[in-house]
Amino acid sequence: MLLAFSTWPEIEDQLKRSKAVVIPIGSNEQHGPTGLLGTDWLCPEIIAHHAHSQVAGGAELLVGPTFNVGMAQHHLGFPGSISLRPSTMIAALRDWTVSLASYGFERIYFLNGHGGNVATIEAAFSEIYSEASWQGRPRGYALKLRNWWELRGVGPLCTQLFPSGHGSHATPSEIAVTQFAYPDAIKSANYAPRIAPTGPIREAADFRARYPDGRMGSDPGQASPEKGEQIVRLAASALATEVAEFAAESFVA
Ligand code: NI
Repeated sequence: MLLAFSTWPEIEDQLKRSKAVVIPIGSNEQHGPTGLLGTDWLCPEIIAHHAHSQVAGGAELLVGPTFNVGMAQHHLGFPGSISLRPSTMIAALRDWTVSLASYGFERIYFLNGHGGNVATIEAAFSEIYSEASWQGRPRGYALKLRNWWELRGVGPLCTQLFPSGHGSHATPSEIAVTQFAYPDAIKSANYAPRIAPTGPIREAADFRARYPDGRMGSDPGQASPEKGEQIVRLAASALATEVAEFAAESFVA
């Protein structure tokens, strides 16, 4: 079930069956000369929608709207990137979460597509849990963060598909996922060097000086829609299983 294509009575009914919702979350940021600016929110959305339609049969898994701008200040040296500062993102995540929790959603699962979001999402969880604690609620809701590349089996598959030049930004695995879902948006370029340099992540001007075309340690030229399909199928299956487990978890009294 996709929240955006549902009505409020349908969501009210759904809450009688399950208290879980999946929120794809990512970033709108440069992904090298060939990667789409939406890569980091497209990947978790593609995987969650595939899990919804192909694995869960469309009914059981509720997928909410995609949180599609994240903490990407280091990419602001490249046109088209958009960033929230950490404090803004924490406030927005709090409002999304409290809105959903107010209807009775008790299991909110964030499927993340951007490593730069992790610290901020975890800080947001601490803020949200703190708020519940100080209000003295006996049993609150449970929040979960999973990076899509850490879903069961996905890391080993990506290592097998791309034994060298995977890197950490504009990776062939994330580019392949978008190529599978949006073959009409595939771009090409001559990468020089073939495998991009690696190093630290600091502020935007430093990032662009270190990584002139935006890639970090990667050779996205290895990506293909076929490889993307393998990743999406495995990730979607792992996601459906993990969300079902999360939904079934009981609170400690
Ligand atoms: Ni990315």
